[in-house]
Parts: sequence; C-alpha cells; structure tokens
Amino acid sequence: MRVIIILVAVAAMSLVFLRGNAQPVNPYELPDPLKMEDGRIVKNKRQWVKERRPELMEMLRSQMFGREPGQAPDLHFETLEESHDAFGGLATRKQVKISFDKDEKYYLVLLMYIPNDRKGPVPAFLGANFKGNHATTTDPAVLMPTPDKLATYASSFKVEPRSANGHRWEYEYILKHGYAVATFCYNDVDPDFHDGFHNGVHQLMDGDKPRNGESWGTISAWAWGLSRCLDFLETQKEINSKKVAVIGHSRLGKTALWAGATDQRFALVISNDSGCSGAAIARRKSGETVEVINRNFPHWFCGNYAAYGGREEKMPWDQHELVAMIAPRPVYVASASEDDWADPVGEYYSLVGAASVYRLFGYDGITDRTVPEIEHPVVVGRMGHHIRKGEHNVRLYDWEQYVSFADRFLK
Ligand code: GCU
Repeated sequence: MRVIIILVAVAAMSLVFLRGNAQPVNPYELPDPLKMEDGRIVKNKRQWVKERRPELMEMLRSQMFGREPGQAPDLHFETLEESHDAFGGLATRKQVKISFDKDEKYYLVLLMYIPNDRKGPVPAFLGANFKGNHATTTDPAVLMPTPDKLATYASSFKVEPRSANGHRWEYEYILKHGYAVATFCYNDVDPDFHDGFHNGVHQLMDGDKPRNGESWGTISAWAWGLSRCLDFLETQKEINSKKVAVIGHSRLGKTALWAGATDQRFALVISNDSGCSGAAIARRKSGETVEVINRNFPHWFCGNYAAYGGREEKMPWDQHELVAMIAPRPVYVASASEDDWADPVGEYYSLVGAASVYRLFGYDGITDRTVPEIEHPVVVGRMGHHIRKGEHNVRLYDWEQYVSFADRFLK
C-alpha cells in the first residue's frame, strides 16, 4: 500500500512539474507561420505551398541547417548480404552498401528487415542509429563496422557489443505489425565531430570549396543521407516507397524533422525527444538553448545559426515552423517526462503552433494548450503526441505509439 501511495505521489509530482512548466518560462510571442515576410496572411493551401513554405524553407536553410546539395555524384547500391531467415523466419534481412561516389570512398551500410508475411509492398520506418547497425540487434548476422569506416569516426567512438542499443530498435514488434524497418549508422554519412567539414559527405560534395554562413552542417548531411536511403528504397519491390516514415531520436530527431522538411517523399515524420533545434520552441529557453547547442555542437548547423544564441526572440522563425514544414503529412512529436534538457513542454507547443498550417489543408491538429498527462497519447487529425514516463531514450512504449499512429496513415 505504501509503495502504491509513494508511486502515486511521484507520478503526481512529475505531472505537476510538467504542468507547472506549461506556463511560458519566459514571456514570448511565437511568429505566426501564416504571416508572410511582407506582412500578408496566407489564406489557403496554394499560397502556403507556392509562397510561404518556400520562404520559410529559405529561412531554415540560410539561418539554421544550411543549404543541402543535390544528388550524389554516383549513387549506386550493392547488396552485401541477404537472408530470408531473420528472427526465426519472421523477416528477410538485407544489408546494402549505398555508395555516393564511383570509387566507393563515401558510403553507408543500410540494414533492412522486411516482414516475410506480406501481401504486396509494405510500408517502412527509416531512421539513422548512433552506435552502428550491430548495436541495434542481437541478430548475429548483422555486419560490424569495418576498419575503413571506423578510421573516419570520432576518436571517442567505441565499438560496443551487439545490441548495446537494441532497446531502441524493436524490430520484431515492428515487423509483426507489417512494417519493414531500415537503419544505418549516422557516422557513415558524416562523422559526428567538428573537424572543419573535411570528413564525411561534406568533403565529397564540396571538396575544398570555401564555406560561408549558409553552408550545410552535419544535421543537414545526415538528413541528406536519409534521402539517399529513400532513393534506394524506391528500387525495392517489397517496399511501398510512398509510405516511408522517417524517424529519429534526439539529434537524429532533429535530423528526421529536417529530412521530412527537405524531402517531401517522406510520408510521415516522427521526432523522438528531438529537443533544442528540433521540436522544442527556442523562445522558451527551457533546457538546452540555442547558445549552448551552438557552443557544444558547432558542426551541426550552418554558421549563421550561432548569431541567435541568447537572442532567440530575434529569430525570424521558431521551431513550430519546422514542424509546419511537414504539413500536410502526418507528424508525431514524442517526449519523455524526465527529459528536461529537451523541454517536453516546448516540444508539445511546436505541434500547437503548427496546427494552423494543417488547418489550411483541411486537417485538424493539436490545439489544446494544456500539456497532456504522462502516457496519455493524443492524436488529433494528422498530429500525434505522447510523453513517455522516464528518461531520454526510445522504448517499446514509444514504438507502440508510432506503429499505431502509422497504422492510421500508411496501411
Ligand atoms: C546532447 C545535445 C542534444 C541532443 C542529444 C542527443 O544532449 O545537447 O541537443 O539531442 O545530445 O543527441 O542525444
């Protein structure tokens, strides 16, 4: 009995904490996504698509993520390994080398599972991972990172045991629900450290071209890598490439949002604990701030973004407008109750702030300013949200919500 009372008390306290935070930590006014730079108000979806969306994309490119390049010089694919017997026959596994140049100096290795129980092409989840494909599963056939790749990663990168991050990739659950799932190590595309953009695909695409304040950063490079994976998925007859959800956690959640913004082929976008410079409203300055993120991770963004550190109220945009870039496609923003660094309340408010854009397309969105309770998922129209109880992470609970959200739109 005592334990129950304590648990209830703890749950109530965390709720109070989140609710308490629901009041703006700093008074702020969000820019209206429907207000054009010249002051006109967007009246319909045509005006959004033709005028306002491009204007906002230009802002996000030039001020935040940088300008991504076009197609890779020589995109080609090679199947390294394939088996129809993954997870005791549940799935077909493919491991594919996606090369960006003729010499195959720049490539990623995509791990893909496709459910064997399928009638026709299946929808898929695609997302990058942090620690290597082998670290996403106990499946012993998954290739380990190769020495040539490891040589390009940050010196702090440690090869961890198989499945070290397995809890983030609930493959069997996803497959049993009829989805394929594909992932690659983000370091394959652009190693996650600041070396002046001499490594990864920046080197391939830009060579020694001088950089400026609008040159693409590393998040943009990872998003570009996700698009190249989608190019590959389009060649796969088992996959319905018109029904690919892009997903990411934390820095890769920021990446998933930007990939969904830049590449409208992604049918659905999921941000898991993306936080500062992802879904969290910058003007709240709650948890990580623009100044701190630019100081700690200067390579993630374009140079111009640093100028907004400590001047969030001067930003001509805020993060709800990044979420609005996904419209009219379904978008899911998830948080974790203990993840103050990512500002769960600010993440929720970016959905509320983007709802007017979904409305233009005739879809409802999340408009209630009261932050939902912990583990009370909310789906309104084409927007979904939950706050999982616990730490900054991806858990089965998160995947359960993503699969059920995707079932509404991708099945
Ligand atoms: C750091 C960083 C966050 C990021 C996170 C992650 O905590 O400050 O912005 O989201 O790393 O990627 O795990």
